[in-house]
Amino acid sequence: MNLIYEKLLKCRDIVRSKTDFVPKVALVLGSGLGGYADEIDVKATVNYSEIEGFPVSTVPGHQGRFVFGNVGDVPVVVMQGRVHYYEGYPMTDVVLPIRLMGLLGAKVLFLTNACGGVNPSFAAGDFMLIKDSILFNVPNPLIGENIEELGTRFPDMSEIYKKDLREQIKSAAQAIGVKMQEGVYMQFTGPSFETPADIRFSATAGADVVGMSTACEAIAANHMGLKVCGISCVSNLAAGISKTPLTHDEVQEMADKSAPQFKALVTESIKRIGQL
Ligand code: HPA
Repeated sequence: MNLIYEKLLKCRDIVRSKTDFVPKVALVLGSGLGGYADEIDVKATVNYSEIEGFPVSTVPGHQGRFVFGNVGDVPVVVMQGRVHYYEGYPMTDVVLPIRLMGLLGAKVLFLTNACGGVNPSFAAGDFMLIKDSILFNVPNPLIGENIEELGTRFPDMSEIYKKDLREQIKSAAQAIGVKMQEGVYMQFTGPSFETPADIRFSATAGADVVGMSTACEAIAANHMGLKVCGISCVSNLAAGISKTPLTHDEVQEMADKSAPQFKALVTESIKRIGQL
């Protein structure tokens, strides 16, 4: 059997030995949303460190556990903390948690992140509904022997972020009075922030925001047939647009400030998506 798939099944068996909870929506929490677990009627938690072979995040502000429970009446699994490619894990490990949540039963993947704003009409603190993404200079997570049990060798990616999910998120934002931008997320490797020239390049390439996660996760999820959606929180204006040097503290601070609205938006969105 494919070694990556074998590892995935082992991780699934470990989680299944701890909980039989079957989620419908898998939610990945980005910077600032770490406290989202407060919104959940928690049924079980599993620390990443309890799962042999599971990649554990080294970034301050990123916790490491799965939270299983209900948001309204929608069963969810939440990743409190994700790993990034820049931490040095192979790309297949970076997307392992996403695939695992799919194997645990999730049908929808809801991605969130903090990002740098490239589109000149965006401001720090804005939210952006992701309508498409660019994986730049980051290896495609599907490179290597195809895992036939998950999906096909050459999967279509013409609508990763599903329109019906986007419509639900838009109506959720409207219902709670949160303004939302819409655009394209471009993933760089990090960990350095981009240069001003990188950012001019990303704008020319069609990006509205830049970040260090999400696009690779969305590809792996779409490959295995999960419906994907995502919201970015613009924690800062990107390099060269921002008047000041970028720091992780600034990203964290703005993400924390946006957290109450972000939480409300995610909760309202999940309640609607859960009815689809
Ligand atoms: N660039 C890349 N990733 C980020 C940024 C940024 O400006 N802000 C938050 N995550």
